Amino acid sequence: MGTATGAASAARARLDRLWQRGRAFLGTRTAVMGGAMSWVSERHLVSAISNAGGFGVLACGSMAPDQLAREIAGTRALTAKPFGVNLINMHPALDQLLDVCREQAVGHVVIAGGLPTGATLRRIKDGGAKAMAFAPTLGSGRRLVKQGADALVIEGTEAGGHIGPVSTTVLAQEILPELRDVPVFLAGGIGRGEAILSCLELGASGVQVGTRFVCATESVAHPNFKQAFIRASARDAQPSVQIDPRFPVIPVRALANEASKRFMEFQREVIGKVDSGAMSRDEGMLEIEHFWSGALRRAVIEGDVENGSLMAGQSVGLVTREQPVADIIAELIAQAESALVRRAADDASFEAKAGVMAGVMTEPPVGAL
Ligand SMILES: Cc1cc2nc3c(=O)[nH]c(=O)nc-3n(C[C@H](O)[C@H](O)[C@H](O)COP(=O)(O)O)c2cc1C
Repeated sequence: MGTATGAASAARARLDRLWQRGRAFLGTRTAVMGGAMSWVSERHLVSAISNAGGFGVLACGSMAPDQLAREIAGTRALTAKPFGVNLINMHPALDQLLDVCREQAVGHVVIAGGLPTGATLRRIKDGGAKAMAFAPTLGSGRRLVKQGADALVIEGTEAGGHIGPVSTTVLAQEILPELRDVPVFLAGGIGRGEAILSCLELGASGVQVGTRFVCATESVAHPNFKQAFIRASARDAQPSVQIDPRFPVIPVRALANEASKRFMEFQREVIGKVDSGAMSRDEGMLEIEHFWSGALRRAVIEGDVENGSLMAGQSVGLVTREQPVADIIAELIAQAESALVRRAADDASFEAKAGVMAGVMTEPPVGAL
């Protein structure tokens, strides 16, 4: 009993050391960021994540500045713990949203949806917040750090929502050994504690998890949206397909449904119109871009899981039931710690066996004397 407790506390101490840099940066007990998810990451989920020792991040999405101000204040009313705000780089009111973050004394601003300019990063820092950004490559990561980013998120193609082409493990190997100046958080496909542990051992300061939190009890996602997640397996979370390079589409990983099928047909129809001269290329591009507008809201809030967008990462296969956020985080930590305890036991048994072997080897051969 004493040994088991000792092993558990040694595992906890080891985990705390592994993500100490991330915890210090976020000001939290664990370095688990709740990835901002438009419509899902509002005050209830965000405050629940922060109250459970993680770092909740509000998704501003397409909110207007006054809506964001209300959401920040609403979140503050539900938690005294640190949380961040995620802003989309190409939001037309980005500067006003940054002003809101400054007025509300937001501690951490995460810029998503493209690389922020140095001016944007400076504006965040001048407002008193820490600036975080997504680095899709080592080169862009280096540039962001030079421009003043205080921490980076690197997100693999396994993630839900807008994605790049490279997996989390490959990005981790390319970027983590080279970028030691700022804390780096790994995202994409993280659904269990053992995976968190391996991210930290690869050199990450913490992780960002999205999909795994969608079915939290505190998440306001529609019951139909949650059911779709609970039923889905990893292979149902597919990237959207661009059918013609003249009409580029940033891939979005989502559960395959009617809308994703229709998107293919829709692209074909629009491209046909452009080719026949019935529509200009720019008009065609705009039509294609608009296909998904309002689609995430339709699924998350209205529960229309056939005609809306079911953004989800491949870790959706690990989402098996609705659970309170505190249980999800406790489960992730318990899995990471159990892996460390198992490893310590393996090491001890290996050393014991090696000791016996060494003893056998030093015994003089029978009959030698
Ligand atoms: C439904 C949904 C909506 C998302 N919306 C956003 C968003 O508004 N801004 C953003 O930066 N990332 C967004 N993401 C990505 C998450 O913040 C997070 O980085 C990602 O989910 C991590 O990968 P995982 O899903 O494998 O855990 C979204 C993800 C999902 C599943």
